[in-house]
Amino acid sequence: MIETHHIEYLKSLVDENGWRENNGEDLSQWLLDSRARIEGKTSLILFPQNTETVSKIMTYCHEHKIVVVPQGGNTSRVGGATPDQSGNSIIICLSRMNQIRMIDKENYSMIAEAGTILQTIQSKAEDSERLFPLSLGAEGSCMIGGNLASNAGGLNVLRYGNTRDLVLGIEAVMPNGEIWNGLRSLRKDNTGYDLKHLLIGSEGTLGIITAASLRLFPLPKERATAFCALSDLDSCLKLLAIARELSGDSVSSFELIPDIALDMACEHVDNTRLPYAEGPAPEWSVLLEISGFTKDQMQTTMESLLETAFEEGIIMDASIAQNDTQRADFWGMREAIVEAQIRESASIKHDIAVPVSSVPTFIRKAGEAVKEICKGIRPYPFGHVGDGNIHYNLSQPKDMDKVAFLEKEDDLHKVVHDVVANLNGSFSAEHGVGQIKTEEMKSYKSAVELALMKKIKQAFDPNNIMNPGKILS
Ligand code: MLT
Ligand code: ZN
Repeated sequence: MIETHHIEYLKSLVDENGWRENNGEDLSQWLLDSRARIEGKTSLILFPQNTETVSKIMTYCHEHKIVVVPQGGNTSRVGGATPDQSGNSIIICLSRMNQIRMIDKENYSMIAEAGTILQTIQSKAEDSERLFPLSLGAEGSCMIGGNLASNAGGLNVLRYGNTRDLVLGIEAVMPNGEIWNGLRSLRKDNTGYDLKHLLIGSEGTLGIITAASLRLFPLPKERATAFCALSDLDSCLKLLAIARELSGDSVSSFELIPDIALDMACEHVDNTRLPYAEGPAPEWSVLLEISGFTKDQMQTTMESLLETAFEEGIIMDASIAQNDTQRADFWGMREAIVEAQIRESASIKHDIAVPVSSVPTFIRKAGEAVKEICKGIRPYPFGHVGDGNIHYNLSQPKDMDKVAFLEKEDDLHKVVHDVVANLNGSFSAEHGVGQIKTEEMKSYKSAVELALMKKIKQAFDPNNIMNPGKILS
């Protein structure tokens, strides 16, 4: 446990609302991970209000070798922001650092503090007729600092890139307390190693990002959204090619959804219904969105590209959203499929990426592999097929006990990740490594990569106080 005099000193660095202690109060909001599978312990949670205070905290922790877990909205899918069981760490939660410091409309940029909720950033950009395109299920509670720390992906990567691609500069506090002001808002800056890209995606292991300069884009004037029933799995690649080509590369989202997910969503989540005129749910659907800048163009473009896809036998059916309510329903269904799987039964998750062209092969091969070691298993593959990123989730067999199913978790991860590795893919496309994929790092990363990563960690954080046990165990 951390000695009391350290706790008292750290508390003195913040105001009376700036700390919470482990004294019987329910701290699960900060200690339980978003999948409710990992619960950590802490001696103290600090809520600093500015970068200088973060710096003072880190200076003290570095000097006294006190372990720090940085946290934003605590929505990591891999336990990246959850402390370990020892109670020997403090959490620094950035939630009170939530100011938009400036919006530069002409420079298409915004400077936001780490604790700003993603949805707030999206809507502030929109108020200035700009788009901040990062969009994901947790956008109402995740914070931009965490999005950067985990290099979050989401629904618009195909068009706008990952979080990494949306950042012009950062401000960060180093493990020894030094403040690095790298808040430049430049599109071009070729002056040596690009350190911001080391901190982005480092999951709080190299420093604490306190603010970021974000890239903004023109706000699309029109969007068209459609649910498309594919003729077969391979057709997803053909539909993607047609949609990109015939829309002038205006595809912003391209999400794969299997029948099992639509059916479970209709069964378990209120206000969801099949997005087609008639059932049953097709084996494979794609939720396709295109967006552009000329009014009254996107809807027509969508109609004509779907007509071509229909004529070429790529799709069997499609529903185009006719208004904002229908569009919201379509996206509500996309969100509901995640919730539905949790409500149905136990599930085992994967977040893999392969080259887009290998997605159908991956789904088939992974299906064969998991069925070989678990009879009756129900694959539930969905997600960002336009980026080659599939959430290859698995649902408990109907006639199998939950515990028996979860006992197979490691074996199932192994066979799925082996298929991924054979296709030259990644075992973590967008959720990061956190504390649950450190074994995969050892199995699938080369010795050269791992050795370089360890040297970088050592250079930034010689006392190993920044979020230890994450990424590199
Ligand atoms: C999604 O794309 O819906 C999420 O990344 C899946 C998840 O949260 O597990
Ligand atoms: Zn996802």
